Amino acid sequence: MRWYVGSDHGGVALRDLLVAHLRTHGHEVLAVLGPAHEGESVDYPDVAMEVCDRTLADEGSLALLVCGTGQGMAMSANRRRGIRAALVSDVFSARMAREHNDANALCMGQRVLGPGLATDLLDAFVRARFSGGRHARRVGKIEAITAGDGRPAEADRS
Ligand code: RB5
Repeated sequence: MRWYVGSDHGGVALRDLLVAHLRTHGHEVLAVLGPAHEGESVDYPDVAMEVCDRTLADEGSLALLVCGTGQGMAMSANRRRGIRAALVSDVFSARMAREHNDANALCMGQRVLGPGLATDLLDAFVRARFSGGRHARRVGKIEAITAGDGRPAEADRS
């Protein structure tokens, strides 16, 4: 799989650990964005947008975003049309985010997770495949929301 990865200063160590994990397991990591060390403070939305734009420009690639909690990265990434970012801290959700939601961005919090759990989350996300079917219809509705004025069509509100 092809990955675009980024973190702010709150996620540098976990980002680098996960990049090493991906490369060890044969993944292509095409960009690692964000500060080189945790002393260099940056704003997570800037990194999230850059990573999301590169991911969207490379069909089939995935984004991995890390900050202190993962929350800011997930909130930012989900503002980009076409990005479905999942903030995860349990293995079941990491798997289901792909199987049911066709997530194309994985977000984690360095201050929340230990390295063992974080790599398990990444592995679960990588192994899972989108189920399609009724889930494709629902994911299509997510994209339809962001394609218009942000509000569901009248018929969909019931
Ligand atoms: C940075 O201090 C911290 O706010 C950031 O890494 C992240 O946790 C935000 O959601």
